[in-house]
Amino acid sequence: MKILLIGHNGQVGWELRRTLAPMAEVVAVDYPEIDLADTSALRRLVAEIRPSVVVNAAAYTAVDKAETQPALCHQVNAAGPGVLAEAAKAAGALMVHYSTDYIFNGAKQTPYVETDTPNPLGVYGESKLAGDQGVMASGVDHLIFRLCWVYGARGQNFLLTMQRLAREREQLCVVQDQMGCPTWSRLIAETTALALKQVTQSTDRSAFNGTYHLAAAGFTSWHGFASRIIELMPAADRKCREVVGITTAGYPTPAKRPAYSVLNCDKLQATLGLQLPDWEVSLRQVLDQP
Ligand SMILES: NC(=O)c1ccc[n+]([C@@H]2O[C@H](COP(=O)([O-])OP(=O)(O)OC[C@H]3O[C@@H](n4cnc5c(N)ncnc54)[C@H](OP(=O)(O)O)[C@@H]3O)[C@@H](O)[C@H]2O)c1
Repeated sequence: MKILLIGHNGQVGWELRRTLAPMAEVVAVDYPEIDLADTSALRRLVAEIRPSVVVNAAAYTAVDKAETQPALCHQVNAAGPGVLAEAAKAAGALMVHYSTDYIFNGAKQTPYVETDTPNPLGVYGESKLAGDQGVMASGVDHLIFRLCWVYGARGQNFLLTMQRLAREREQLCVVQDQMGCPTWSRLIAETTALALKQVTQSTDRSAFNGTYHLAAAGFTSWHGFASRIIELMPAADRKCREVVGITTAGYPTPAKRPAYSVLNCDKLQATLGLQLPDWEVSLRQVLDQP
């Protein structure tokens, strides 16, 4: 099996590169050697590599900056994945793509299921939704994993930001009225690999086509997540003594975010037999690493 992995320097992509290595020849590329906004380059890349699986972990993920760069964001997150999916179909490849909880408006008060109606609040969510639709419309065999609040020991993420701020400041103010499922990038990669194994060994891989919510079990607020991160830091390592809960209104950002991003992952369990542990269990494992 030959896997073309796009975005190997990102949080999820970096974990995928090592996790997929034992199951296939992995050809890993990232920006700037490949630009999702350059659709001709994408077609050339797939035609040249001729992969049996295309995994796209690359995306324009700067949620706030997207509000002032809508054209670029749509080119990277919507047009790019659509063309990549067409090229994958032409090569007979299966495509794995990642979606986001930000395609929902967060007005629900029970966990979102895959069939809930999307209604993104910002440019990033709109562009990601259009990307999902492009992948589905291409007719390629596909798995779209919809993620939530990704973090890990590497990359730009909430865990590392909170740890840095806790070393610098005595008090942190963190939003307490947005709920989600903090999900470890490594578990996303491992779940992807286990799903790919099943689907590629199946006699009818198209039976698995669709979108799957893939997130940690349980949920919390950004304030709850920050508080747990800081509690788990050695006391000698941190200056922070207090994490104050604030409202979204008290922390204005250019892009609106959903107030409730909790994902119901029953479909992943029922179809592929895969489920993630509670977010707090994974957080401890990330922090236990040397
Ligand atoms: N992070 C989250 O909380 C979250 C939540 C839900 C869903 N997701 C989705 O999960 C997937 C992986 O996210 P992540 O957190 O791993 O992202 P990430 O850490 O921001 O990594 C994204 C990767 O894409 C690359 N990239 C950016 N623009 C590109 C372009 N024009 N062409 C090619 N590559 C480009 C980046 O390169 P540079 O670093 O050079 O820009 C980076 O290597 C994405 O589809 C994202 O939308 C993420």
